[in-house]
Amino acid sequence: MNAAIQFNNVSLSYGSKIDPVEVLKGINFSVSSEEIVSIIGPSGSGKTSIIMLASGLETATEGSIKINSQEIVGLKENKLSEVRRENIGIVFQSFYLIPNLTAIENVLLSLEASQKYNQEQEAKKLLSEFGLSHRLGHLPSELSGGEQQRVAIARALINKPKIILADEPTGNLDSANSQIMMDLLFDYTKKSKTSLVMVTHDNSIAERCDRIIEIKDGQIV
Ligand SMILES: Nc1ncnc2c1ncn2[C@@H]1O[C@H](COP(=O)(O)OP(=O)(O)OP(=O)(O)O)[C@@H](O)[C@H]1O
Ligand SMILES: [Mg+2]
Repeated sequence: MNAAIQFNNVSLSYGSKIDPVEVLKGINFSVSSEEIVSIIGPSGSGKTSIIMLASGLETATEGSIKINSQEIVGLKENKLSEVRRENIGIVFQSFYLIPNLTAIENVLLSLEASQKYNQEQEAKKLLSEFGLSHRLGHLPSELSGGEQQRVAIARALINKPKIILADEPTGNLDSANSQIMMDLLFDYTKKSKTSLVMVTHDNSIAERCDRIIEIKDGQIV
């Protein structure tokens, strides 16, 4: 079977050619469809950078990255956002909700205008599954941290992505809310046969995944 994500000899450097900061060095891994993988490693080791590369929000300096067999290194921005829209849902540690949009408007945010109306029922359904049926019209400032994160996850899932990328999705939550979040994410991934790549500092979460990738100093150990 084809991999959902494939990194081949991927390197990432920042800064000038003369004085580059090498953040990732020769990264190789693949994630199959329906696989749940966690990425762990010390602060600054390059975990977020891997998520940014896999989502095409950052460009590799060297190597090849395939998303469902499609090479994304070197793609132009419009083609790249098409691949992203068709394949990927992203959840960040800081939720990045738009402050003046309600919960349901935030979930519908990334959809094209023509889809927003059709998907409203789906958005309501997702938010209800996440225990937020009574919070649809609330602004982010009127929601708790855990509720905001659930809105952010609903937003990542509304497009039915084949791949979910999550960068410390529970990093800003207490342990009770982390547990709720993780159950939602794991249930959804299994039910919808999606792959999930998740950065976490929490070993108990990492151990619930099919596989753990450990990063140190920009390399897989
Ligand atoms: N835009 C940038 N310009 C220069 N260096 C950067 C940039 N973004 C990240 N870095 C550096 O790349 C390295 C890896 O960063 P990254 O954010 O991937 O680490 P991380 O493993 O996610 O860390 P944390 O656990 O603290 O979130 C760090 O040393 C960081 O300082
Ligand atoms: Mg990070």
